[in-house]
Amino acid sequence: MATKTNSPFTANDIPSQQGRRVLITGANSGIGYETALELARRGAEIILPARSLDKANEAIKRIRREVPSASLTPGILDLASLASVRAFAASIAERLPGRSLDLLINNAGVMSVPQRELTVDGYERQFATNYLGPFLLTSLLYPQMKQERGTRIVTVASGVSNQGKIEFDNLQSERVYKPMFGAYSQSKLADLIFQLELQRRLTAAGSPILSTGAHPGYAITNLQTSGPAGASPLSFRIMEMILKPLASQDAHHGALPTLFAATSSAATSGGYYGPSGFQELKGHPVPAKIAPAAKDLNLANRLWTETERLTGATFTF
Ligand SMILES: NC(=O)c1ccc[n+]([C@@H]2O[C@H](COP(=O)([O-])OP(=O)(O)OC[C@H]3O[C@@H](n4cnc5c(N)ncnc54)[C@H](OP(=O)(O)O)[C@@H]3O)[C@@H](O)[C@H]2O)c1
Repeated sequence: MATKTNSPFTANDIPSQQGRRVLITGANSGIGYETALELARRGAEIILPARSLDKANEAIKRIRREVPSASLTPGILDLASLASVRAFAASIAERLPGRSLDLLINNAGVMSVPQRELTVDGYERQFATNYLGPFLLTSLLYPQMKQERGTRIVTVASGVSNQGKIEFDNLQSERVYKPMFGAYSQSKLADLIFQLELQRRLTAAGSPILSTGAHPGYAITNLQTSGPAGASPLSFRIMEMILKPLASQDAHHGALPTLFAATSSAATSGGYYGPSGFQELKGHPVPAKIAPAAKDLNLANRLWTETERLTGATFTF
């Protein structure tokens, strides 16, 4: 179904997902949950890994209450552990018959962890969870993706990527740690750079797969509490107090840019979508602002090479 160009995209505009196999990270909560629910309503078969089987099964139970016929498979994935990403990807390769994934949505993330934390691999938690893990996961699942029109890889970034800076001498916040406008914004800018560079590499390889991206604006989810755990910086709490009543939206509306990037026939190669309203905080999905740093080809190449080194990932296009 073609998306109408002059009326706002809603969940009703999602084309049929019958026969499509989708893998979405972070689908036990917030935007990921709403994305999975809407794709399930449209008939997608969904693999939804979470940090524990209980969390994945709980989300499956909730979706089945709304869509009893939904085809949903749980899994265990901790994006903050390269070993866990490898183990999960290996389980998918074992379970799926070759190239049979239609859609990968890299949605999971954590924001503003109050103190600098290192993962089991020795990387800063936000950079590892939001960027390194999804990069490795995408490289490992790529051989499972159908090489045909309609196949998409969607990366969820953030409006905060506009404040981000890739600091190669501080990638793991080893020099200075700023939870929100430092580590988090860097990880989300890295997501956007990845989405765009991935599209360039897919195109160069002659692949029909689209790499698209989205950000949800300001959507009320567990994100504001799970990372900060009530200890977010004062500046962020003040901004939240002012913006929340005026310019936030619920998780369902926050999921619409992702759903547009994942399913709309109007989404373009490398397209990046966010809400239409003031500062892209809420509203219906439209093309979003791309930070100048995300268009820097030298930066993108350097980050890609460094990420391969940090994760051991290699894409075989
Ligand atoms: N909400 C917003 O306003 C907003 C704005 C900009 C960008 N975003 C982005 O939107 C995405 C979804 O966030 P949300 O708002 O829906 O937040 P959320 O409700 O907190 O959901 C985040 C999801 O990511 C999962 N996750 C966290 N750490 C993980 C790890 N190490 N391994 C695997 N999964 C992990 C969480 O699992 P657990 O339940 O186990 O924690 C949860 O399922 C994130 O990438 C976020 O950066 C959100």
